[in-house]
Amino acid sequence: MVLPLILCVVLSTAHCAVQDYGAYDPVRDAFLPGSFPDSFIWSTSTSAYQIEGAWNVDSKGESIWDRFSHTPGKVDCGDTGDVACDSYNKYREDVQLMKAMGLKYYRFSLSWTRILPDGTVAGGVNQDGVDYYNNVINELIANDITPMVTLYHWDLPQALQDRYGGWVNETMVQLYHDYVSFAFKSFGDRVKLWLTFNDSKIVCNNGYLTGQHAPGIQDRSQLSSYLCGHNILKAHAKAWHTYNTTFRASQDGKVGITVSLDWAEPRDPDLPADVAAADYYMQVSNSQFAHPIYVNGDYPPDFKILVQKLKQALPDKNVPDFSDEEKASIRGSSDFFGLNHYTSCIVGHRDTPAGKGPLDNINITRSPEWRRAATDWLYAVPWGMRRVLKYIKETFGDPEVYITENGWSDGDVTPPVMEDTDRICYYMTYIDEVLKAIMYDKVKVRAYTAWSIMDNMEWETGYTQRFGMHCHLHGPEPASGTQAVFKVLQGHHRQQRLP
Ligand code: NOJ
Repeated sequence: MVLPLILCVVLSTAHCAVQDYGAYDPVRDAFLPGSFPDSFIWSTSTSAYQIEGAWNVDSKGESIWDRFSHTPGKVDCGDTGDVACDSYNKYREDVQLMKAMGLKYYRFSLSWTRILPDGTVAGGVNQDGVDYYNNVINELIANDITPMVTLYHWDLPQALQDRYGGWVNETMVQLYHDYVSFAFKSFGDRVKLWLTFNDSKIVCNNGYLTGQHAPGIQDRSQLSSYLCGHNILKAHAKAWHTYNTTFRASQDGKVGITVSLDWAEPRDPDLPADVAAADYYMQVSNSQFAHPIYVNGDYPPDFKILVQKLKQALPDKNVPDFSDEEKASIRGSSDFFGLNHYTSCIVGHRDTPAGKGPLDNINITRSPEWRRAATDWLYAVPWGMRRVLKYIKETFGDPEVYITENGWSDGDVTPPVMEDTDRICYYMTYIDEVLKAIMYDKVKVRAYTAWSIMDNMEWETGYTQRFGMHCHLHGPEPASGTQAVFKVLQGHHRQQRLP
């Protein structure tokens, strides 16, 4: 794709100048003319719970997000994914949206309970669920769109939560293995790109520490969130090895994991204490999952110190370390690095910790000059994208990087935002930084995936945050629409979904 020409046109026509988009540094932020490789993958992304709806249709089992959203007070406005974008019924229209955008790839996730209603193979396979995903995959391929499938995007079977306590229980490693083996066997003849887990940090911290996400557990001791991460790493590695030994030879696909990395910029890059604080943030907040897989099978040094503190604080509890065998299994268990990146922060040292939390010993801020999205944590910092990509290259062994998410939200306003200036600016500037990472820093970025093709159920904030390139109006209003990276880059505005 010839990006520079398009971007130059956009720069002059899309009511958006990089100069207006946060603090502008003429060297750092200068537009880079150049092209992405022909083989570069352009994609958009969704997840099952956020778009499918049909939460209890055709024998689908209940997931923890079904239960959570049906519990009063858990999701803004009482929103649920019961209908969402109705992609269970409208998947063909979704595919047409992609086709209209010229997309050749699509990242989506499987709903575990649509396939295995109680989460286990022994409990029975739901053929309707298998048929649904076969239909989606076949429809994509018939339209020349390659599927990229996430096996776990946060919607654990409720039955496994009830029976085992979910990810805090090591039994989940085998149960997840059985589920993904079934998925590889059923869909791997056509699916060649797999992601085991989407952003496990959120799964564990929001699900088992703060309780903002399903299953809503608030264990402030941090034991549950630690066990959750520990088991997910083991489950990921086991899944990768199973693919590697049992399916790779016949299916010839790739299996990775998606981790979420913000960029932490030192408050004063010339002050060693601030540089150390930013590095601490990158280790503790960002590398719990990436370091074991891409470096040495174990947590990064500063995270290990936190584990020691957890052991001291909970002497009666079992706070496991990885055995040598587990480390060997986890190290190298990925064919590429899946990256979700949205935003950055500024990190400085603190003389006096603000509390006892893992990040209370550093100072985390955002520049007042950075533009903020409707979502409270999302600030536009395009150059953070390039820095995080370079960090991955230097820290995690120069892997192939698939950007699996990047995107911008509007608020839930009436009428919905259709003149998509902020989103266009966000994509334009972030994608240009990806190009710089490839051309200047030689990072092996292979894919760019925008979140999301259409507005959808944004977890605990319901439908109040709209990340879509197509406007999806939930409820009685007309259904929404279509707009893709490529068309956004050409300065088009958001459009309504197919009628
Ligand atoms: C992270 C998650 O993977 C996705 O589900 C979510 O909607 C977006 N980022 C935006 O918050």
